Formats: sequence, structure tokens, C-alpha cells
Amino acid sequence: MKVTAVVVLGLLGTLTLFFKAQASTSLDVLWQAAANWTGTLPCGGWDCQCLFRNPKGCCCVAVPVFQLEEATFMRMMGLWKDLNSLNNKIQEITGGRNVAFMATMTPITGCFGPFNKNVSISYCNVSLNQAYGYNPALGTFTAPRAGLYSFSYTVYSNVGAEGERLYHRVQLMKDGQVIASSWEDNREDAEDSASQTVLLPLKQGNQVYLELVLGRFLCADTQGYNSFSGYLVYPLSDI
Ligand SMILES: *[C@@H]1O[C@H](CO)[C@@H](O)[C@H](O)[C@H]1NC(C)=O
Ligand SMILES: *[C@@H]1O[C@H](CO)[C@@H](O)[C@H](O)[C@H]1NC(C)=O
Ligand SMILES: *[C@@H]1O[C@H](CO)[C@@H](O)[C@H](O)[C@H]1NC(C)=O
Repeated sequence: MKVTAVVVLGLLGTLTLFFKAQASTSLDVLWQAAANWTGTLPCGGWDCQCLFRNPKGCCCVAVPVFQLEEATFMRMMGLWKDLNSLNNKIQEITGGRNVAFMATMTPITGCFGPFNKNVSISYCNVSLNQAYGYNPALGTFTAPRAGLYSFSYTVYSNVGAEGERLYHRVQLMKDGQVIASSWEDNREDAEDSASQTVLLPLKQGNQVYLELVLGRFLCADTQGYNSFSGYLVYPLSDI
């Protein structure tokens, strides 16, 4: 635009000098002269035809304004597309990020077990279940999305008196595979507890749960000390 203005001013200056002899510098005369000019008008981006020869009823900056409008529009479209894809990425990352659960065994006065097979433990007292990944009826957590997950559990048992056999083994399972376990087999201490935390990369739909191993038992958890919790540390798009 600046260059165009300079060119037009230059042209007007030249025309002024040219018609100095007529002792008139009124714009009308300049326009007349330009209109009478038979050579090429050096107008740059301006529409000279419009400006000097046919000024009535035509926008002389129509072409540059149109070009500016076009360029601005294209730029806006580009920004709009970028903004949209950024928005989608944010949605993808934050959407379903809040996955967490916490559950305890409901208090038992007697013992849970022994059973003649490995039995999954249903921690029925659910205090948190964001994204509903945990099913208290089965005691199973199903990963709602792929990600790195953290799981913790605490095993507690009290068989009453010294001399009684404290005998349990609880294992954290991922789709039938043992990931971690905690156990006890002694007659010295009647009451014991142990905790473990693991980090597990999971695919969507992977299942994590705790099993009591066959022949073993958990007793007198009157406070809900046996617990199972987990949460999504961060999502993974593909594992
Ligand atoms: C332009 O041409 C017209 C005739 O076509 C003439 O009357 C007029 O004086 C001319 N103007 C200048 C500034 O040369
Ligand atoms: C469930 O757990 C909460 C603590 O999170 C406890 O206050 C409540 O008594 C428990 N309820 C049952 C039925 O075990
Ligand atoms: C039960 O768990 C024990 C200990 O991990 C294992 O040796 C055994 O194979 C399991 N039984 C079945 C049927 O999976």
C-alpha cells in the first residue's frame, strides 16, 4: 500500500510539473490531464483506469481491498483450522483422564475362605469410582482407556490367638496373570497386614483384580482394612 501511495504521489507530482505552464494545480485539471494521457500510467497496485479515466461510481481501491480481504480470509480459515485441531487434541488428552477407584472389603467377623480354588475378592464398600472402571460385584477393574495405571492393595488378617495358623495369600492379577502377591504362613503372630503398589501399562479393556489363593483365608477384618485402589497416572495412545 505504501509503495502504491508513493507511486501515485509521484505521478501527481510529475503531472503537476508538466502542467505548470498553465499556472493551475487544481485537482480537476490534474485529473483531466491524466484522463487525456495516452501513455501507460505507472500506478502499481492501483486501478488507474478507474482512478483517472472513469472515477464515477467505481471503487478505485477495489482490487487491493479485495486482495487484502481474500488474504485475511485465508489466514482466518487457517487459524480456525489450527484452533479446531488444537481443541480436538485437548479434548483427546483431558477427556476421560479422571479414572480412579477406592474400595474396601465389607467388615467380616469370621473368615473369608478357605475355598477349593482361587477366588477373586469383591471389595464391596466403594468410596470412589470415577469413570466407573471398578465393578464391586466382581471386584474387577476394567481399564476404560489405555494408559499407565497405579494399583495398591492392603491385605489384613487376624486369626485370633497365638498358635493359630495365619495363612493367606492374595495376588494381584491382570487378565489371569499374577502381577504381585503378598502372603503369610506362620503361627507366631496371629495378626498381620501388608501393602503393595504396582505400576501397570494397560490396554483399554484389560482387567485387574485380586485373588485369594485356594486353601487360604482372611479373618476378622472388622474395620475394612483389606483395600484395593487404583488410578490412571497418564493416558497412553497406543501400547
Ligand atoms: C483534455 O482533453 C479535452 C478534450 O478531449 C480538453 O478539452 C482538455 O482541455 C484537456 N485537458 C488537459 C488538462 O489537457
Ligand atoms: C465403608 O467405608 C467407609 C470409609 O471409607 C466407612 O466409613 C464405612 O463405615 C464403610 N461401610 C461399610 C458398610 O463397611
Ligand atoms: C492359583 O494361584 C496359584 C498361586 O499363584 C497358582 O499356582 C495356581 O496355578 C492358581 N490356580 C489356578 C487354577 O489358576
